[in-house]
Amino acid sequence: MATDLVTPARAAWNQAPAWPHARHDEVHIWRAHVDLPPHRVFRLARVLSPDEARRANQLFFEADRRRFTVARGLLRTILGRYLRVSPAELHFCYGPQGKPALAPEYGEGRLHFSVSHSHRLALYAVAYDRQVGVDVEYMRPHLASREVAERFFAPAEVARLAMFPEALQGEAFFCCWTRKEAYLKARGDGLSLPLDEFYVSLTPGVEHVELHTPRDPAEAARWHIRALDPKPGYAAAVAVEGSGWRLCRWRWAPRGRRRARRREWEP
Ligand SMILES: CC(C)(COP(=O)(O)OP(=O)(O)OC[C@H]1O[C@@H](n2cnc3c(N)ncnc32)[C@H](O)[C@@H]1OP(=O)(O)O)[C@@H](O)C(=O)NCCC(=O)NCCS
Repeated sequence: MATDLVTPARAAWNQAPAWPHARHDEVHIWRAHVDLPPHRVFRLARVLSPDEARRANQLFFEADRRRFTVARGLLRTILGRYLRVSPAELHFCYGPQGKPALAPEYGEGRLHFSVSHSHRLALYAVAYDRQVGVDVEYMRPHLASREVAERFFAPAEVARLAMFPEALQGEAFFCCWTRKEAYLKARGDGLSLPLDEFYVSLTPGVEHVELHTPRDPAEAARWHIRALDPKPGYAAAVAVEGSGWRLCRWRWAPRGRRRARRREWEP
């Protein structure tokens, strides 16, 4: 299909609808900047639960506290828009490895989401009735070492990485990392799944990512992974359960003043 050849670099990130609808045949990716002016951070901090505020306060660096607050506050804001619920009122529950989910009172777990933040960017994936995992990494060249690859990647990935020209190896490293992480996050396993039990294709700029699960080929057929290109300098990917869906890429933006006044809780 022609769409298989569309590189993520060409995909546009459009203005999000004010009140999105989750649909079975769409997966929504929201992109947001987490370095916001103090008054916006303050408003987002007000929607966090006491536990979340405590977690933010435990972070050592001020920038990390601020970015966690914004990322979690925006998660609540975005999900609140789908559910028509005030962000501060949302409740989360957590899987055995820490994957957050909406509490069962919000449609018995049919609205799925995943969050990732790195440096100045946060990505949110939202899907209806299917598991999703998203990962974004700011590409810091010093992290993309052979030692790290050998520790975290499958042997097939390490071998493939070594075949890229040197100038592309850093980007291919982060493509590999984010594609693996997106899959792990969709499954919710964290690191409990041995990292060499599956491997992914790592070519930068190719949207459709191959997933191989040699011991259980049916597992690979259950998922689809797409590379995303949220901003220059970042690598990202989303893993989605099942087929028959299309991606919608949206930019998060605060709502206009007049509307915000109508709903005081909207940060
Ligand atoms: C926690 C983990 C899910 C990802 O963490 P990360 O890449 O450091 O951070 P991200 O910003 O991408 O994701 C964090 C978010 O994932 C979510 N999350 C936490 N545990 C999760 C789990 N088990 N499954 C799915 N999502 C999870 C939370 O929403 C969290 O957001 P929060 O920090 O605001 O609460 C996990 O996979 C991990 O520990 N990874 C370590 C990195 C690694 O070794 N990767 C090897 C693969 S190449």
